[in-house]
Amino acid sequence: MQIPNWPVAGERELELIQKVLQSPQWGGYHPLVTQFENQFAALQQVEHCISAMNGTITLEVLLAAAGIGAGDEVIVPAISFVATATSVSRLGATPVFVDIEPYSFNVDPACVERAITAKTKAIIVVHFGGPLANMDRLVALAEDRKVLLIEDAAHSQGASWRGRGAGSFGWASSFSFQNGKVLTAGEGGAMTTNSADLARKLRCLTNIGRKEGENFFFHYELGTNARISGFQAAVLVAQLERLPSQIALRSKNAAAIIDATQGVKGLTWQHIPAEVTANSWYLMLGRIDAAAFGRTRDQLHKDLTAAGIPCTPFYPHTLYRNPLYIRGGCRVEPCPNAEACVQDAFWLPHRVLMGDEYLTQAIASSLGR
Ligand SMILES: Cc1ncc(COP(=O)(O)O)c(C=O)c1O
Repeated sequence: MQIPNWPVAGERELELIQKVLQSPQWGGYHPLVTQFENQFAALQQVEHCISAMNGTITLEVLLAAAGIGAGDEVIVPAISFVATATSVSRLGATPVFVDIEPYSFNVDPACVERAITAKTKAIIVVHFGGPLANMDRLVALAEDRKVLLIEDAAHSQGASWRGRGAGSFGWASSFSFQNGKVLTAGEGGAMTTNSADLARKLRCLTNIGRKEGENFFFHYELGTNARISGFQAAVLVAQLERLPSQIALRSKNAAAIIDATQGVKGLTWQHIPAEVTANSWYLMLGRIDAAAFGRTRDQLHKDLTAAGIPCTPFYPHTLYRNPLYIRGGCRVEPCPNAEACVQDAFWLPHRVLMGDEYLTQAIASSLGR
């Protein structure tokens, strides 16, 4: 049984990196940067893509572009990677943590609605593990309450809702191309939006306040240098070519595991609504009811590890239980579902969905079949 490595690279990455090496444009904007941005925007079906160093700086730049700061509140899910919340705090605003739905692992729109106050400026929705959160309800809610909807789509390259790409619904969206993501250059990120004006502003903010086509030493906004290098773009262009077949393989193997474990009592896979027309399968998430399953989540984690199958026993806590937020600086709504997931959920990383049928069978049998 072979556990596939991640990331993967080959001749195509070498060929494109070589192209950058032989050019005078290692930094700044090598043509491959623009090529990647255009191709990624097309994949996610959104008008504009602005690349950046990582998926943390992208969130910070988006919030800065929205003018969010001290005295403002931004609603975030209690379950995510910490950058979803720290981006808000670093702008001087207050993250408001709300609960997730019990089985989709995505933010509960009803909880978002209850948490909105006169201070709420934005909602950051995370498409957790890949499948999009309920875009029908969240887009309508944000419009109705006149708050900005920002998609943290770090997990959702190639994913869609009713045929529309992740990152195309919100006022603007953020992606990460960090080492473990399904599209990676080791580090990297991107922002997407359908607004040409906002795209110009985001590009200006990530390029130290410069405006395209204008004097190099004229700075129009309080920006930062968050540009990616030509090398990152080279890898991303090559990785983008691999993405469709990788998603197809993960989808096939995930379906086989779900099928083979259908009768296993106490095991519930992530609920993926019918509106999710494509999933990246960044994480394969499940929950364990120990009484029915006959083993606790932690025991399952040990068993999978012993069998050589990588597995993570979920986050060790909700975001607001990080030492940073125990000290304050946030508002916390009741989050019983998020707390329960910390106790009984787990995920398999996407690389285990990229093996052969023997690996898929081994995973299914370790889970009880
Ligand atoms: C949901 C989410 N948001 C933001 C980030 C931050 O991205 P980066 O590591 O590229 O800074 C990550 C992951 O790393 C993430 O999983």
